[in-house]
Formats: sequence, structure tokens, C-alpha cells
Amino acid sequence: MATIAKDALHTPLCDLLGIQYPICQAGMGFVARSDLAAAVSEAGGLGVLAAAHCTPSELRAEIRRVRDGTNRPFGVDILFATTQGAGEEVERFTEMARGWIDVTLDERVPVLIAGLGTPGPVTAEAHRLGMKVMALCGNVKQARDHAAGGVDVIIAQGHEAGGHTGRVGGLVLVPAVVDAVAPRLVLAAGGIADGRGLVAALALGAAGIWMGTRFIATREAYGHDNYKRKIVAIDEESTVVTRASSGKPCRLIRNDFTRAWEKREAEIQPFPVQFERVGKPASIRAREQGDIENGSAACGQSAGLIHDVRPAREVVDAVVAEARAVLAGLGAGG
Ligand SMILES: Cc1cc2nc3c(=O)[nH]c(=O)nc-3n(C[C@H](O)[C@H](O)[C@H](O)COP(=O)(O)O)c2cc1C
Repeated sequence: MATIAKDALHTPLCDLLGIQYPICQAGMGFVARSDLAAAVSEAGGLGVLAAAHCTPSELRAEIRRVRDGTNRPFGVDILFATTQGAGEEVERFTEMARGWIDVTLDERVPVLIAGLGTPGPVTAEAHRLGMKVMALCGNVKQARDHAAGGVDVIIAQGHEAGGHTGRVGGLVLVPAVVDAVAPRLVLAAGGIADGRGLVAALALGAAGIWMGTRFIATREAYGHDNYKRKIVAIDEESTVVTRASSGKPCRLIRNDFTRAWEKREAEIQPFPVQFERVGKPASIRAREQGDIENGSAACGQSAGLIHDVRPAREVVDAVVAEARAVLAGLGAGG
């Protein structure tokens, strides 16, 4: 039985990316830096650097640090969001995004991931350089657009997810996306924090998982201990979706920051203006400085499933061991 279950965890994603387990660590702004990405890749999953908090030259230094820590594949997650209007913040964001893309292509990072928007012509550029491309979606239309644009792996991110998120729950979104883009590979994201979630994702037709919040509560995640401890302490009802942090719907821990902005809805600016003016400093306040009540602390509903802060390798190992036990219990493979 153990052998059958082990094979069930070796999915086409493992072959496509050259990884041992179909477990990808989500790109998470301010949190997902080189220590975490290297640790997850070394543990057999796919570690991912988030670009959102970096300048392009900081991103290049982080890519090199991952390479110092592991020879295994890893990814860089870039916000490709379409911006509205003009102005200083829009120009700064657009220039920054171009810089992240250039550095990621120049460094030939094995996997480029598009968060928020569509990678467009960057997909073909990445393919020419031998890289793979993955992209997040929150509905079937976005998934179809990604597939039409040649994206290799589509990440179906359910409403449960931490950070920017859509309106559709994962139990509906994942199989709907699988059906829409077959035979392209799909990852399930949002609300997954253990081996049960991995097996459920596979049962829905996904080739693996893209897991964020569980990896915040690890030793290697870049973040204040207060942030990590808060994720362990809160339950599944302690988050809220708000545009306060970036101008786009984003799931955060419910706190004084989110409550204050409930009364200031009309003042919220579109992305990236709100992010540059409010979200960035508020994210640093909560995630780096530990002021969890007054800052922007992105977190998913899966916090309700997380009960400890542990090394990233232990998270990967535990998800694999639990998934095998669940598969064995289901009599998977007959
Ligand atoms: C703290 C935090 C920051 C995030 N930042 C990003 C980001 O920069 N780019 C991105 O594509 N997704 C970002 N996300 C969303 C994740 O990629 C992922 O979809 C999500 O964490 C999955 O749901 P889960 O948290 O329930 O595992 C973020 C999520 C969190 C919790």
C-alpha cells in the first residue's frame, strides 16, 4: 500500500518541474524570501521567491542566495497586475514589474509565476530560455486565457486563500479549471495546509498544490514572530477580504487596520496606488515589525488548521506523510 500511495504523489508536475513532491510554496510578498524558497526546494518541493517587496537588484541577489542554498529547481513570483490610470505610483510599479521580469529571465530562473495578471508575451520569452511558466487564476475565464497564452501550469486559487483572492471556493474552482484547460496541469491553491488537502486536491484533478499560509508559520519564513504566532493562534473565521491593502480584494487577518478601513471604503485607491501608499508600509508594520493589530497581515482561512511553527522541511515531510496515510486509509489504488 505504501508503494501505491508514494506513486500517487508522483504526479506529472514532478516530471515537468523536476521536483520530488507536488508541493509548491506560494510566492508571498514580504514573506517568501531566499531562506524559505531554498528550504522548500531542498525538501523536495518547489520553493518560490516573491518579487513584490523587492527592487529588481534585490531580487537578483535573492535568486543568487537561493542558488547558494540549493541546486534544485525554484521559482520567482511576479505581480503582472494591470494598472489603472497614470501617476507616480503607476509608473513606479510598471517600471518595477519590468525590472522583476528582466532579472528573472536574465537569471533563467527555472519557473516564472505570474500572480494577479497575465504574463502575455513574457511566456514565449521564458519558453525560449528553457523556463516554465505558471499563472494564478480565480475563475475559469482567466484559466482559459492563461492556457491560450501558453502558460504551462495554471494555479486555481480558491476564495479561502490568503493574500489577493477571487470569489469562487476551491471545491468548485479546481475541477472547473481542470475541465476547462485539460490536458494542461493545474495546481490547487487556497485553504490547503496538510496532507488531507493535498489528497483532496489530487482527487479534484489537480497535479499538485500551491500552499501559502502554512509556510508562513515556518522557521525560515521572513516575518516577525508575532505574525507567525498569530497565525497559530487564530481560527478559520479570523480573516477578512478587503481592498484596504492594495486596492484589490486581499485576505488579511481581521484587526484594527481592516476595521479602520471598513469606515473609509470610499477613500480606497485603485491598485497600485493603494498598495504603494498604504499596503506597503502597513505590510512592513505587521509582517516585519510585528504590529499585527495595526498593519496588513495577509493570511488564509487555513490558519484554522495550523497549530505550530516548524521548519519548512518538516512541513513538507508532514504533508507527504499525512497524504500517504490518507491514501492508504482510502485504499487508493484498489
Ligand atoms: C502573506 C501572503 C502574501 C502573498 N503575496 C502574494 C504575491 O506576492 N504574489 C502572488 O502571486 N500571490 C501572493 N499570495 C497568494 C499566494 O500565492 C497563494 O495563492 C495563497 O497563499 C494560497 O492560499 P493559502 O494561503 O490558503 O495557502 C500571498 C499570500 C499570502 C498569505
